[in-house]
Amino acid sequence: MPELTVDQIRKMREEYLLPSTMTYFEKPVNIVRGQMQHVYDDQGKKYLDAFSAVVTISVGHCHPDVVQKIQRQVAELQHMTTLYYHPNVVKYAKKMAEMAGGGGPLKVSFFTNSGCEANELAAMLAKNFTGQQEFIALRHSFHGRTLMAMTLTGQSSWRHSMPYVFGVTHAPAAYCYRCPLKLKYPSCGMACATQVEDIIKYNTSGKIAGLIAEPIAGFGGVIHPPAEYFPIVYDIVKKYGGVYISDEVQTGFGRTGKHFFGISHWGVKPDIVTMAKGIGNGVPLGGIITTRAVADSMRGKVHFNTYGGNPVSMAAGLGVLEVIERYRMVENAQTVGSYMKARLQRLMNRHALIGDVRGLGLMLGVELVKSRKTKEVAPRETLRLMELCKDRGLLIGKGGMAGNVVRIKPPMCVRQRDADFIVDVLDESLGALQKENRRGSNGEKAAARKNGRNARGKKIHAAGR
Ligand SMILES: Cc1ncc(COP(=O)(O)O)c(C=O)c1O
Repeated sequence: MPELTVDQIRKMREEYLLPSTMTYFEKPVNIVRGQMQHVYDDQGKKYLDAFSAVVTISVGHCHPDVVQKIQRQVAELQHMTTLYYHPNVVKYAKKMAEMAGGGGPLKVSFFTNSGCEANELAAMLAKNFTGQQEFIALRHSFHGRTLMAMTLTGQSSWRHSMPYVFGVTHAPAAYCYRCPLKLKYPSCGMACATQVEDIIKYNTSGKIAGLIAEPIAGFGGVIHPPAEYFPIVYDIVKKYGGVYISDEVQTGFGRTGKHFFGISHWGVKPDIVTMAKGIGNGVPLGGIITTRAVADSMRGKVHFNTYGGNPVSMAAGLGVLEVIERYRMVENAQTVGSYMKARLQRLMNRHALIGDVRGLGLMLGVELVKSRKTKEVAPRETLRLMELCKDRGLLIGKGGMAGNVVRIKPPMCVRQRDADFIVDVLDESLGALQKENRRGSNGEKAAARKNGRNARGKKIHAAGR
């Protein structure tokens, strides 16, 4: 017997939690145990977690090496704040500099508990360093839910009406499948990237503190820009004196394959990288890594985060980095990710609902459309597909402005057989969805005929029957 049933939890959530607390699925799942790429519900049902608890589980649920490090630290000392010395925070910062910086200019870290705190800090650093106040962010982006992070976010669904922070302008994203400028790659000449210069010239004071961008927009629907995009944008940011901030909360730590940070696929060297989610593999941990020059803009200023850098989170973070290295997870993300992407692309031959497959490594997106010709979004079908996959033991996520992009981002410990399971379940569920839709539309037509109306609700004339 579970400690609390799904119905009891639902009632208690309604009574004791803010009504804005979201949940997936018509009948929510009560997940009580996790083991690497799998989780188990209160009935013992096993699921492959292809959404990694919203991209927070990087190396596997309860990875034994990470668990051991956390347990040892919890039993010894949980917290004293960085006002006191402890070896973990410096050991972790050094390891981060080695793995993330690779001997390059990214060397100095500060640790927080979440991604929005990391983005707030990055914005503050950019302002301190440049003496400027204004930022460029991208449409479709997501940067968190504190006031500054929400202002930087480029999707109305994640912004609430409130007085935003002044000085943030959003530039079009390189969303080639639905080009915001109605152009076609590559004849577009990367107009969305070059437009950033006009935006700075016309929408700001002409000087910016910086630009923030996710290399691949996560919540925005796995928007994966062409190779030229970020280098063009980077040069413009530099021309106008700004710092380049890469939000790697989802794309970091090897998830996109080949590189530790996603932005390296574009050959851009950011001034500040913000991190969270997978960095802690489920432990609340976020942070920034930056250059000595940017870091020095904080000299003479006190900055403090009560739980930032605590020994337990640092032990977890260190454990995650060691596991990524020991088990060659970046390479694995590349190999399994490319294999899975190729299989997903082949699914397009069987399912007309798939309009586009995109992403890198283990950060993949499948955009669902009602028609490939009109590209009409299919959010209802996306929700239903999630339910059908869940029933078959697969958890997937969704994103995009319309909620019509399936997000596949499993932990980096997955193997080829897991990729096969994910694609096979998607294939079967898409087939089941198609059958449901056919039955549904036949049912609708029959009901409409009975009412003397056609499927579009128009009155059927006798001659038309
Ligand atoms: C790209 C990105 N940046 C920032 C955040 C904010 O992180 P957090 O929820 O830990 O504040 C998120 C996730 O929520 C994210 O996906």
